[in-house]
Amino acid sequence: MWKFTTSKNLNPDSDEMILDTENIPKHIAIIMDGNGRWAKSRKLPRSMGHKAGVEVINKIVKASSDIGVKYLTLYAFSTENWQRPKDEVSALMRLLVEYMRKELNNLNKNNVKIQTIGDISKFPQICIDVLEDSKLKTKDNTGLVLNLALNYGGRAEILGAFKNIFNDYENGRLTKEYIANLTEENFNKYTYTAGIPDPDIIIRPSGEQRLSNFLLWQCAYSEFWYSDILWPDFTVDHLYKAIFDYQKRDRRFGKVK
Ligand code: IPE
Ligand code: IPE
Ligand code: MG
Repeated sequence: MWKFTTSKNLNPDSDEMILDTENIPKHIAIIMDGNGRWAKSRKLPRSMGHKAGVEVINKIVKASSDIGVKYLTLYAFSTENWQRPKDEVSALMRLLVEYMRKELNNLNKNNVKIQTIGDISKFPQICIDVLEDSKLKTKDNTGLVLNLALNYGGRAEILGAFKNIFNDYENGRLTKEYIANLTEENFNKYTYTAGIPDPDIIIRPSGEQRLSNFLLWQCAYSEFWYSDILWPDFTVDHLYKAIFDYQKRDRRFGKVK
């Protein structure tokens, strides 16, 4: 059983399952990976793995929100995932629409604000409509921001930011001087995550230890947490364990203490 306490009551060397309520990551990003292998091990079609994966989402959203996480980014579809078989891609799109339709009221009631990163304009119209509707209905919510990475790629994002900066220059919205003196902070305004702090921790289940084009610009000082657990088997306990490990890390940001 997990317990919660404030920093001053915490013994940093203890291995007891206690989380420091004053050091909860503000932004958690998760690569929801392993659905296919989960299905394969049960001799089920891959789409069943995706279905099982979707069922994990609410628990993780609720647990994150309960402990005061402000941003939860979930990698659901990458720019490379289009290269999967057509029926798998359509199953993923269908599941997205089903999830939003089924859960929107509940998410809204729980004060969750839905946002997306990635180019959803390439999605089927029904997905776009349901996503836009979800964003609109939850736009004034002040609780957890559920940020869905859909048709997201870190390289595409960086390239897109560069192109938009160029367009703004061409249209006279930016000066040559602004571009010559472009800062990281100003570049950030052109990324999908403008206004969102960088992820404190990136969680990847499924045993893979790579980013797969996720948040390349934003991950500069993120802590990484890997586990062999497959996403459909991921529980709140795993989330808390990741946060527990995160709280034991020494984030130096290149400095000395
Ligand atoms: C993650 O699970 C879901 C998406 C990429 C959409 P996978 O489908 O990648 O599962 P594995 O990695 O094949 O097990
Ligand atoms: C990353 O997983 C993308 C998502 C989870 C949405 P992949 O399964 O697509 O990544 P690779 O192919 O193992 O690198
Ligand atoms: Mg995978």
